Amino acid sequence: MTRIAVIGCGYVGAVSAACFAELGHHVDCIDTDEVRVALLRQGRSPIHEPGLDALLRKGIDAGRLTFGSDYPGRFQARIVFIAVNTPEAQEGAADIRWVRDAVATVAVRLRPGSIIVNKSTVPIGTGELVAGMAERAGAEAFAVVSNPEFLREGSAIADFMKPDRIVLGGDDPAAIARVAALYAPLDAVVQCTDIRTAEMIKYASNAFLATKISFINEIASICETLGADVEQVARGMGMDQRIGGQFLRAGLGWGGSCFPKDVKALAHMAAIHGAHPQLLRSVVEINSDQRLRVLQKLRHALGTLEGRHIAVLGAAFKANTDDIRNSPAIELATLLALEGAHVRIYDPVVAPPRIAAAAPLVEVAGSLEACLVGADAAAIATDWSEFRTMDLAAAAHAMRGSLVVDTRNCLDPDAARAAGLDYRCIGRPVEERPKSTAPGVLPPLTAATGGQ
Ligand SMILES: NC(=O)c1ccc[n+]([C@@H]2O[C@H](COP(=O)([O-])OP(=O)(O)OC[C@H]3O[C@@H](n4cnc5c(N)ncnc54)[C@H](O)[C@@H]3O)[C@@H](O)[C@H]2O)c1
Repeated sequence: MTRIAVIGCGYVGAVSAACFAELGHHVDCIDTDEVRVALLRQGRSPIHEPGLDALLRKGIDAGRLTFGSDYPGRFQARIVFIAVNTPEAQEGAADIRWVRDAVATVAVRLRPGSIIVNKSTVPIGTGELVAGMAERAGAEAFAVVSNPEFLREGSAIADFMKPDRIVLGGDDPAAIARVAALYAPLDAVVQCTDIRTAEMIKYASNAFLATKISFINEIASICETLGADVEQVARGMGMDQRIGGQFLRAGLGWGGSCFPKDVKALAHMAAIHGAHPQLLRSVVEINSDQRLRVLQKLRHALGTLEGRHIAVLGAAFKANTDDIRNSPAIELATLLALEGAHVRIYDPVVAPPRIAAAAPLVEVAGSLEACLVGADAAAIATDWSEFRTMDLAAAAHAMRGSLVVDTRNCLDPDAARAAGLDYRCIGRPVEERPKSTAPGVLPPLTAATGGQ
C-alpha cells in the first residue's frame, strides 16, 4: 500500500482516487470546491458516473479514501497527482492556470523525495514548467512524471481498471518505477517515455479519435448524397482490424470536456510553433458543420424553424454522463432557438437547472413525455437508452407533428416508420416527405407521408 494524494476531484480525480483506493492504496484527495468535497465525504459522487458511488463508499469505509478542501501544512503522501481542469482559453490555447495554482500550492508542501504526477491534459512542455516551479518553490529531491489519463466518462471505472496502456513520461527511472508500481495490480502494459512524448501521446490520441468521428461524419454526408448507408459502411470498415469499429459512428459530432479543447489546443500549439495543422483544423470544421447539417435537415423538413415546437432529446454530450460541457445537444437546441423555434429539452440525468444555465433560450422539460407533447418535431441528440427504447407509438401520439430527426442513428428506422413517425437520420437513405407550409401545421399522417 502506498500513500498518495490527488489534487482535483472532478471526473478524472474522483475516479482515479476511488480506483487507487480499490487497488489498496491510501488516497488523500483535495479539491477547492467545498460543495464537491462535502458530497464526496459522504461517499456521494458529484458527477454521474456508473459505479462511482459504491466505489467511493467502499474506499471511505475501508479508511483508505479521504477528502478535504484544505491543503495540509506538509503532505504525508510522497506521490501527488495533479488532476485539475485545463479548459480552453482564447484562440484554442489550453488554459493551465489551475495546474499552475495547484503546483504552486503543492510544491511548498512536499517532503523530500516526492513525485509530482501530472494527470491533467497539458500542453507539451508543461512537465518542465512544473519542475521549474517546484524547484523555485524550494522542493527538495523531487521528480515530475507525466501520466496522462485516457478514461472515458460513462465507463470511467472500467477504463481505469482495465486500461489499454498506462503512459508514464519522465527522466527519472526510479520515479517512473514508483508510479508504475501503483498500477501493478492492474497488470497493464506500461509505456515509459520522456515527459514531452507522454504529454503528446494524450493530445495525439484525442485528436485521432476526434478525427475518426469527423471522418465518418464526412462519409455520412457523402452517403446521403450518393444513396449509401453509413451504418453499413462503418460496419464494413470497422471489421478491418487496421481501422477498427470504435469511434466510427456517424452522428451529431463530438463534444464534451476533452475533444473540443484538446484538438484545438494541439492545433494552437502547432500553429504558434510554425507548423500548419490543416488536418486538425478540418476535423474541427467538419464537427461544427455537422450541427448545421442537422439544423438544415430540420429546417428543410419543416419548411421553416420559426415558430415550430421542437423537442430536443438529451442534453449530455453523450449517454451515461451528466457532462454538458461543449455538448452538441445543447448547441443544437440553442441554434434552433436562435432561428425562432420553441425548443423544449429533456435529459434523463442532467439536472434541469444546469441545462437551463447552459441553454437559457430553451425550456427544460422534466420527462420525455412532457418534452414531446405537442412538438412539431423531435431531435434525438444524445443516445440515452431511454430514447433508444422509447415507446415509439406513444411518442407519435404525444407529438403534434411526426418528424423525428435521429442525430445518433439509435432508433430502428423501420420501427419508427411503422409507429407513424417521419423518421430521418444521419447518412442513411430516407424517403423525402412533403414540406408543410405554415408553422405548427403538419400534414396528417398517412401511409404515404408517415415514413413507412
Ligand atoms: N473528463 C474526462 O473524461 C477526462 C479524461 C481524460 C483526461 N482528462 C483531463 O483531466 C483533467 C481534469 O479533467 P476533469 O474532467 O476531471 O475536470 P473537472 O473540471 O471535472 O475537475 C477538476 C477539479 O479540480 C478542482 N481544482 C481546480 N483547481 C484546484 C486546486 N488548485 N486545488 C484543488 N482542486 C482544484 C476543481 O474544483 C474541480 O473539482 C483535464 O486536464 C482533462 O483534460 C479529462
